[in-house]
Amino acid sequence: MTMLTEKVDTEFLAAAPQCKVVDNMAVGYDNVDVPVLIEHNVLLTNTPDVLTETTADLVWALILATARRIVEGQKTIEADDWKTWSPMFMVGQDVFGATLGIVGAGRIGAAVAQRATGFNMSIIYYNRRPVPALEAQIGATYCQDLDTLLTEADIVVTLVPLTDSTRGMFGAREFALMKPTAPFINAARGPMVKEMELYDALQHGRPWVAGLNVFEQEPIRADHPLLSLPNVIAVPHIGSATVATRTRMATVAATNLVAALTRQAVPNAVNPEVL
Ligand code: DGY
Repeated sequence: MTMLTEKVDTEFLAAAPQCKVVDNMAVGYDNVDVPVLIEHNVLLTNTPDVLTETTADLVWALILATARRIVEGQKTIEADDWKTWSPMFMVGQDVFGATLGIVGAGRIGAAVAQRATGFNMSIIYYNRRPVPALEAQIGATYCQDLDTLLTEADIVVTLVPLTDSTRGMFGAREFALMKPTAPFINAARGPMVKEMELYDALQHGRPWVAGLNVFEQEPIRADHPLLSLPNVIAVPHIGSATVATRTRMATVAATNLVAALTRQAVPNAVNPEVL
């Protein structure tokens, strides 16, 4: 049973030659070299669905915290820098009625969009292909290309899985397309963002602020340049971190493993072809 902290590759399998199943306690499995597993006839399982709503809640926590400067507000009080109420003191950006741009309209993206309807938002999304259900049920509009989403969205959220084609997909060029008022939220995987280019972009105010749950190197260290910026909110990869959800993930992972080892139908097989 692995976590996203384990790199499962040729070297891993060489050290565990009898391994039959890699049971990843996460929905994402970019820590696993799937072609290598297939080559060695090793089954991979994951834990989808049970973390969808909890992760969508965390995305929303970051949307609201970034748009309304919640962490900066707390720090201001703690530093005794709140001198008086004044009209433009700590002003943020509206969320209600804004346009939410979701990059990656899988299960978590759809759950984030669902919540946005309560904020009366226009929802636009970019995905490998359109998701008709999202359009019919939530009124989301498909963007043919990422650039259109980035220029039109008031708030950008990325939720795509990390693959060779999404690695580094957000860099200086993409940030320059965003509105100077836009929060940028990454709750997927760190390597999708070129972090030093995000650092430069934030210093120039585009995006306006970043809410980051994931990082190129985890754990991110306290002396990382991004953390020196006032317009960054960072949390330590806690998308699915509630007691109930982590318990469900562990239970699903255990169920997958027992099913695989006792040759029953495996609920969440990523590479069922090896069966
Ligand atoms: C996942 O499951 O992929 C998350 O990143 C950890 O919950």
